[in-house]
Amino acid sequence: MKSKTKTVYVCQACGSQSPRWMGKCPDCGAWNTMVEEQMERSKDVGSAKRGGGSEPLLLGDIQAKDEDRFVTKIGELDRVLGGGIVAGSVVLIGGDPGIGKSTLVLQMLKQVSELRGKALYVSGEESPSQIKMRAQRLGVKTENLYVLAETQLDEIIRATDGLEPQVLVIDSIQTMFTSELPSAPGSVGQVREVSGKLMIHAKRTGIPTFLIGHVTKDGAIAGPRVLEHIVDTVLYFEGDKGHSFRILRAVKNRFGSTNEIGVFEMKESGLAEVANPSEIFLAERPADATGSVVVSSLEGTRPILAELQALVAPSKLTMPRRTCIGVDFNRVSLLLAVLEKRVGMHLMGMDVFVNIVGGLKIDEPAIDLGVIAAVASSFREKPINAQTVVMGEVGLAGEVRAISQAEARLKDAAKLGFTRCVLPQLNVEKMEKTAAIKKMELMGVRTVDEAMERLF
Ligand code: TYD
Ligand code: MG
Repeated sequence: MKSKTKTVYVCQACGSQSPRWMGKCPDCGAWNTMVEEQMERSKDVGSAKRGGGSEPLLLGDIQAKDEDRFVTKIGELDRVLGGGIVAGSVVLIGGDPGIGKSTLVLQMLKQVSELRGKALYVSGEESPSQIKMRAQRLGVKTENLYVLAETQLDEIIRATDGLEPQVLVIDSIQTMFTSELPSAPGSVGQVREVSGKLMIHAKRTGIPTFLIGHVTKDGAIAGPRVLEHIVDTVLYFEGDKGHSFRILRAVKNRFGSTNEIGVFEMKESGLAEVANPSEIFLAERPADATGSVVVSSLEGTRPILAELQALVAPSKLTMPRRTCIGVDFNRVSLLLAVLEKRVGMHLMGMDVFVNIVGGLKIDEPAIDLGVIAAVASSFREKPINAQTVVMGEVGLAGEVRAISQAEARLKDAAKLGFTRCVLPQLNVEKMEKTAAIKKMELMGVRTVDEAMERLF
């Protein structure tokens, strides 16, 4: 019997399906995103996957074995991957256009081809000569790196099976298509189908496969639900176009922790690893300026010190301006209210600007006390001691609450030569005082008022 084809309307933003066209997606609420796609009735995929049916096993009888991994010797990348590239795994790398995804994978391929053997880079975006130019810029001169400019999936799979590379990179998943579906490359149907097939291919051959994915305006990979569920690992490559540092973050990892980040700096000759990120973020700190304070943010398990700045100035507007860059606007409004009410600082007629230097975004309550300190410092025109780090969460009653991993943050600060720290009293009491921490002067505070006293 011939399988019946039917058409469905698929939201290109979230992948939701509907039998009729609709102006607005009922799932994600996006307008004008429903596109007609042909659905093939799936031909008994289940039994093919099961391959003859497996029996349930007793958990106790299953041998745990370590995954077959190899390292790229790009330390920051290996760490985010959970200790290297796992055989047969599929990794999705998402990020804004121009952020450096192609550069990152090319540098990875250079390492793999030098250390392991053949590697294949499939590009649907750039011509081989463009790739060559980039490779020259990055100093890639290896015998083992193959490039394929192709967008049709079956051709790619054929070429890969012929070459048997150690790693396969697809740049980008949105440019690839399979002729089995009539819809355009980049549509949810194609992205899902192509990724699914690549996944099966990776598992069958054991070739680790990296997919590069573009992100949409609101920061999700196009066809996010479908893609993120299919692959083993999802990494996001983030950063600010105006700044040179980049962060590689794991959002999902079947073979490692999602707490890890890798920090890179985009240079003339490609991405360089940054072993101590705090140093870049603090490099250009002004001496004795008011409104500047050093805060500690935990990115995964890694503490990063950053400079937080505030500027408070009399406003000519009836609704004074509140501008926040790198910190959450609502959080700052809340903290300004705490300063107003609990400390009696009159910010009503003042414009307040808060910024984290270097394009870093911090979404962590541990910087609350830092925001308060910076605003107060600018308001009172009194600088904060340059050797001081400020950390602590602030509650609405003006209390300073304990933060997580204070020891790790302090150790990082001590390493960079900071000598004083204002932090929650509870953290000081519970802390294990190692040699590095003993060198620092710890000022435990319980309330915002107390913090003000210690700081000024
Ligand atoms: P690219 O890897 O092409 O970004 P993506 O694949 O995410 O779209 O990176 C492009 C940017 O990186 C481009 O603006 C130039 C910059 N760049 C450098 O600064 N140094 C380099 O060595 C390379 C290769 C790129
Ligand atoms: Mg690219």
